[in-house]
Amino acid sequence: MSVIDIHNHFFPRAWPDLAARYGTPNWPSIKHTEPGKADIMIGDRFFRHIYSACWDPLKRIAEMDRAGVELQLLSATPVLFAYDRPVEHALDCAQLFNDAALELCAQGKGRLKALCQVPLQDVEAACKELSRCMRAGHLGVQIGNHVGEKNLDDPGIVTFLHHCADENAAVLVHPWDMFGQSRMPKYMMPWTVGMPAETQLGIVAMILGGAFDKLPRSLRICFAHGGGSFAFLLGRLQNAWQHHPVAHGSCELAPKDYLNRFYVDSAVFDTRALKYLVETMGTERVLLGSDYPFPLGEHRVGGLIRSSDLPPSTKSRLLGENAEEFLNLPRTTPTESSQPIPSESHQLTYSSYLRVPELLQLQHPQSRPQHHDELLFIIVHQTYELWFKELLHDLDAVVTNLQDAGKNPESRDEVYEAARLLRRCTEITRVLVEQFTILETMLPTHFLAFRGKLEPASGFQSEQFRELEFLCGLKDEKMLRYHRPTPEAYAQLERRLKEPSLHDAFFEALCAMGKLQIADNASERERFDARARAVLSLYRDEHSNRDWIDVCERLTEFDELVVGWRLRHIQLVERVIGTRMGTGGSAGSSYLKLTLDKKFFPELWEARTLLTE
Ligand code: HEM
Repeated sequence: MSVIDIHNHFFPRAWPDLAARYGTPNWPSIKHTEPGKADIMIGDRFFRHIYSACWDPLKRIAEMDRAGVELQLLSATPVLFAYDRPVEHALDCAQLFNDAALELCAQGKGRLKALCQVPLQDVEAACKELSRCMRAGHLGVQIGNHVGEKNLDDPGIVTFLHHCADENAAVLVHPWDMFGQSRMPKYMMPWTVGMPAETQLGIVAMILGGAFDKLPRSLRICFAHGGGSFAFLLGRLQNAWQHHPVAHGSCELAPKDYLNRFYVDSAVFDTRALKYLVETMGTERVLLGSDYPFPLGEHRVGGLIRSSDLPPSTKSRLLGENAEEFLNLPRTTPTESSQPIPSESHQLTYSSYLRVPELLQLQHPQSRPQHHDELLFIIVHQTYELWFKELLHDLDAVVTNLQDAGKNPESRDEVYEAARLLRRCTEITRVLVEQFTILETMLPTHFLAFRGKLEPASGFQSEQFRELEFLCGLKDEKMLRYHRPTPEAYAQLERRLKEPSLHDAFFEALCAMGKLQIADNASERERFDARARAVLSLYRDEHSNRDWIDVCERLTEFDELVVGWRLRHIQLVERVIGTRMGTGGSAGSSYLKLTLDKKFFPELWEARTLLTE
């Protein structure tokens, strides 16, 4: 699968003093504050903190590797547009940064591409610079969503966009120079309120002003920041268009009919918003865009798309395939898209094989503001669930081996294999018992600070824990009720209830080998005693039954360790919430204490009582 981030920015490490060069004040400059860190200044005014990813290609690539991003499309920062400056200054400035962008890309091992910027206040100069840049290796252009009072339906800008289509240049529209700033002096409102509105204005102006009708369909144009508030307010626009002639503008079609004429990026920071955006714009019109490496950019690029519940085919469209179309890059084949994310050399990497970026996106604290310890709480539980998965995997294999051993008593291989895998299960469980201590570094007060956010989620709903119990033989149908909210988990547990358990497989193998006989009409108690005596007889003839005794010892140890897990869990619960009720509605630790007597293989314990000297 290709992963391409089409919205991110760069800043060269240094550039000439533009104020001195042009003899006018308030040009952007960079002030390095400490190794790897700098501030962008506008004249003497602080504008933004940045770090070395802005100018260091190797830093960028290392961060791209971590995030599983293959290709970045860099663009300058809108403060450099200079649309309000004399055209010769804006052109010189654009050329400076356009050439710097290509220098950065040249050191980017083929993984960095760039969009140029142009002096859009002068259409002729803008077209010329675009053509120069396209010849030099840029893939397109980043423009602001307005030039002073001119919106994107301005005839001059439409001419420029026409030229972009002719030059096969992709266009990224970035909001800038936000309106109403005198009313938004605080709280970063120009970013949080102004930018979405500016972007929406850019799209609406192009639609209602008839720009799309005048432009060729081959124009590839994308609006940053998810198209701002456009998708969410499209209904409002449509309604006005239908009911008020004055809101018609000069477009030929209804606003919703232009959605196939432009793209938007995915920088909306909320999975529900992303889903809505995709529903509105269509799966082919949303591209991965992160605003990296700026402080308000997506922290782990692509995480929003990856962690959404969009279908895998949509995710791969958003992550890369749509960008390939937007940038006119060669398409990866459908077969390639189902493979793990390839690196530059198209070989598996540590990160793509282990799906590290996806894994690191799966922690979603609920507390607001986020409580520091909630991440630990989530990660510890997730780690348990991963180990539960491995335990189920191994114990299923133990069941199969024991069943095969029963079918073929002459062969010892299956018994050895069962014992070997059981040894792994006991080692994993030992780690699971130990792991509670990590959670005990969380103060009870800290847990209480976010516990309320977790209700009614509870350990009762751990499907895999219950599966483990059912698989080992402790089948309690009543526990299914906690899984009603998740029908898939419910169905899986129902399947486990019906399947032969590890307990069944072990004793059925002994029956098949003639080491256990149970009369058909035997009572439950008599069956239990017969099973315990069969185990006893194995231990009494150690020489002949070494392999089976090994299995018995491993099963006993596993049983013991699971009780150890229950005990440590109770200690943790009491340490953190005392004797409070659980979020799942039980009496808490006093309920959990009742589970301490549960054993998977009571006959193995009973056999010990029956042994005589
Ligand atoms: C602060 C830490 C924890 C607290 C306060 C806590 C509390 C509880 C409580 C009170 C219950 C009883 C059910 C209920 O009413 O909700 C329970 C059950 C459970 N918890 Fe935890 N728990 C903690 C950590 C963990 C961890 C790390 C795991 C690891 C997977 C875990 C797994 C379970 C399981 C599987 C059950 C069901 C046990 C059974 O039915 O036998 N808990 N927990």
